[in-house]
Amino acid sequence: MAIEFRTGIGWDVHRLASGRPLILGGVTVPFDLGLDGHSDADVLSHAITDAILGAAVLGDIGLHFSDSDPQWAGTDSLQFLAYARNLAEAEGYAIVNVDSTVILERPKLKDYRLAIRQNLARTLGVEPDRVSVKFKTAEKIGPVGEGRSAEAQAVVTLRRER
Ligand code: C5P
Ligand code: MG
Repeated sequence: MAIEFRTGIGWDVHRLASGRPLILGGVTVPFDLGLDGHSDADVLSHAITDAILGAAVLGDIGLHFSDSDPQWAGTDSLQFLAYARNLAEAEGYAIVNVDSTVILERPKLKDYRLAIRQNLARTLGVEPDRVSVKFKTAEKIGPVGEGRSAEAQAVVTLRRER
């Protein structure tokens, strides 16, 4: 039997807006602005969801969850992540590891790293030592650096026996 490895990449961006919660990896971070979007706008969960779907060649998040479908309004995006995990597992894949970066000028996120990793790991059915979450500012340049948006990037490796 051969072991097959697959890698996928994910990226997402959401605007920062007042009157919205700042949710990253299912963790609500206290801040005066939050991420705007149809669901809970959890930019990190969206990037990781796309990375899983990409590794398994299962399309992208919008293919499975239309952003004009009212049933997904305000949805907890960990649900999208769990769905992508289940789809990948149905194809015989297991998650080897996740690496990710959130690019956000403010607030500082490092105190939330462990809680975010634990949330993501629980949702993905892996140990937290397989889920990396990094944070960067954009050095005050561009829409992220000016505090108008947040971005996230993710890479996921899957494995299966064939
Ligand atoms: O963007 P910069 O390289 O200056 O970030 C330095 C460190 O600050 C990062 O490695 C990360 O640990 C932390 N950071 C953070 N929250 C952010 C941006 C950066 O905790 N929003
Ligand atoms: Mg998104």
